[in-house]
Amino acid sequence: MQNQEQIDSRTETLISEFKHYFGNAPTHVAIGPGRVNLIGEHTDYNDGFVLPVAIKRDVRVVLRARPDKTVRIYSLEYDAWGEFQLDSFQRDPNLLWINYLMGVAWVLQEAGIELTGMDVLISGNVPRASGLSSSAALEVASAKAFLVAARQDDALTGPMLAKAAQRAENEFVGVNCGIMDQFISVLGAEDHALFIDCRSLHYDLTPVPVEASIVIGNTKASRSLAGSAYNERRSQCEQGVALLKAALPEITALRDVSSPQLEAHRGLLPPLIYRRCRHVVSENERVLQTVAALKANDLNQVGRLMAASHASLRDDYEVSSPALDAMVEAMSSASGCYGARLTGAGFGGCAVALAQPGAEQAIADAVFESYPKVTNIWPEVYTSQASDGARVIVL
Ligand code: GLA
Repeated sequence: MQNQEQIDSRTETLISEFKHYFGNAPTHVAIGPGRVNLIGEHTDYNDGFVLPVAIKRDVRVVLRARPDKTVRIYSLEYDAWGEFQLDSFQRDPNLLWINYLMGVAWVLQEAGIELTGMDVLISGNVPRASGLSSSAALEVASAKAFLVAARQDDALTGPMLAKAAQRAENEFVGVNCGIMDQFISVLGAEDHALFIDCRSLHYDLTPVPVEASIVIGNTKASRSLAGSAYNERRSQCEQGVALLKAALPEITALRDVSSPQLEAHRGLLPPLIYRRCRHVVSENERVLQTVAALKANDLNQVGRLMAASHASLRDDYEVSSPALDAMVEAMSSASGCYGARLTGAGFGGCAVALAQPGAEQAIADAVFESYPKVTNIWPEVYTSQASDGARVIVL
């Protein structure tokens, strides 16, 4: 599937960079956007519900197919070259970003798709390691690039393309993420949030009302704990399911448990596991309530649900951090802010706020005023509209 779209100045620059580095003209630009999750955190790997939007920051893979099996890559931001062969994959411990492309190529070939080599120039403006899914953006843009270079654009699309990109991250890169980030990067839509049922992979576009503007606060705080704690939370959820099965034998994931059921069988769970489960079960309910509130244009209610989500992530799931709490507090204190919460895995990275259009500057001012005093870190604030998902520009 290829969408024709205007070539913006960023793409024009990348085309001339490609010519400069590879000596000839590229044929396509594959684009994978980053994302911000409005609500539904740590629910995707519990078969639950999420409500992310794709943002207007993306990774672009500018390419030209080669007649052989060589993939030559130049990364503009890293100012680094890489190369691999499609018939022999070896993880590169020094050039970690290449592993994303290799992983994607490996998964596509495992799916029976015959790929061809290509020259690619990669450039992105999704802040890295900030919880805005720059990895998923790179995977999804790379997958689109490999498919278009091999003239197999329609061989893998939609949820199946997202699953392939997730598999590359899980099995090749070695990060045990859920499906949300790749899914929204593939299937996002302008001015819409995407409600995703992470069990069935059914999805539904929910308009972001024109009275709502999305503001992102980047704590710029390190996320060093994120990987180990993420895996620990996953296994605590699995423990919760295993223990609850004694009373609820039909459940296979926390998605199947309601709040009244959890309360009724609370005695089966150690206190810590109970709190982890309470976050997931209540968060799933908040996603459904948020979709209803967005449809009813009740943005104050959306704001309250976002605040409740943050409190639950902070107190029950314990994936917030002093920096994230300070960011959420600063954003929420600004007039015109409906609500704010940490977004993504947590431990650092970004918070997201929903605000009245026109209140973005007040939120940024509040953040720059109070956040550095608490953390000694200079943050960044971005506004973003919901954007389209992955696409390919034919040059
Ligand atoms: C990371 C993962 C996602 C999801 C979130 C938490 O972004 O990649 O799959 O689990 O954390 O909601």
